[in-house]
Amino acid sequence: MINSEWEKVGYVNEPVSGDIDLRNEIRRMCKEKNAVILAHYYTRGEVQDVADFVGDSLALAQQAEKTSADIIVMCGVHFMAETNKILCPDKKVLIPDLNAGCSLADSCPAEELAKFKEEHPDYKVIAYVNTSAAVKALTDIVVTSSNAREVVESFPKDEKIIFAPDKNLGNYLNAITGRSMMLWNGGCHVHEEFSIEKIVELKCANPDAKVLAHPECKSGVLALADFVGSTAAILSFAQKDDCTTFIVATESGILHEMQKRCPQKKFIPVPPFTGSCACNECNYMRLNTLEKIYNTLKYEWPTVELDGTLRERAKLPIERMLEISAKIGK
Ligand code: 13P
Ligand code: SF4
Repeated sequence: MINSEWEKVGYVNEPVSGDIDLRNEIRRMCKEKNAVILAHYYTRGEVQDVADFVGDSLALAQQAEKTSADIIVMCGVHFMAETNKILCPDKKVLIPDLNAGCSLADSCPAEELAKFKEEHPDYKVIAYVNTSAAVKALTDIVVTSSNAREVVESFPKDEKIIFAPDKNLGNYLNAITGRSMMLWNGGCHVHEEFSIEKIVELKCANPDAKVLAHPECKSGVLALADFVGSTAAILSFAQKDDCTTFIVATESGILHEMQKRCPQKKFIPVPPFTGSCACNECNYMRLNTLEKIYNTLKYEWPTVELDGTLRERAKLPIERMLEISAKIGK
């Protein structure tokens, strides 16, 4: 039963007894209800450990598309759960906390993009997957950081393109593809905060270390990086490269999987330029907890719902992206 208090907070806030073995109960309910838990690399370690599948934005969408489960529990943020619902309209998509938003997605309201499109009618629109379904519905194609380069390059060189919403990723793509896409002025509050000074200090203290950065970081951080890539690409680079110490400029949740895959290697998170924290966490991703996963499975709430017309319009640009990804083997 859903009470109005839960509606207000956006998650089931019923206290969970300390006697319950959360991990076991979550797995038991998944089996009983034919549910699958998908988690992003930025979530808490214990959330990644209880999930059926952990991945980057692209892999999570691909996994949702092919799952035979009746229920998807999306442990990530809201736009990821929306993407799941768009791809799997007949499945129940649960999100442990409806407040798990994304500052990057918020930086591009659909009404503003619609107005901008009207002012530039001869432009195609490429949107990063970190956008609302309403924004996706306004675009020609979606990208994730894993396939952005190939998607951009699938357009003729002289095509006029608006890239939204991440200006750092857009700048990076313009640089590596030689394009001059018009960029939306959006950004992620986590990736924009990595401190160049602290990377330089860490590099001085660990001269053999390689710097790994996500393309959502500012250009000054990317200029210091030995490797720039999506979370999945960063992980695979760290695994394959001979180097044994890495300075990591992306959300620090990824260190959990890095350390698991490479227990003998050292991973140092880059701190933000504000405050005294040693690493930089996404407050939205951290809203996913074992207690909330337990409650969301128990009550099958909150669900992510989308209007049918909007869903259909948002589906096309996602499907176009998945088609290109399949062709390039990503
Ligand atoms: P990827 O998962 O595509 O690397 O994106 C990172 C991110 O910011 C997800 O919110
Ligand atoms: Fe959004 Fe940034 Fe959090 Fe990713 S890390 S979900 S882009 S706010």
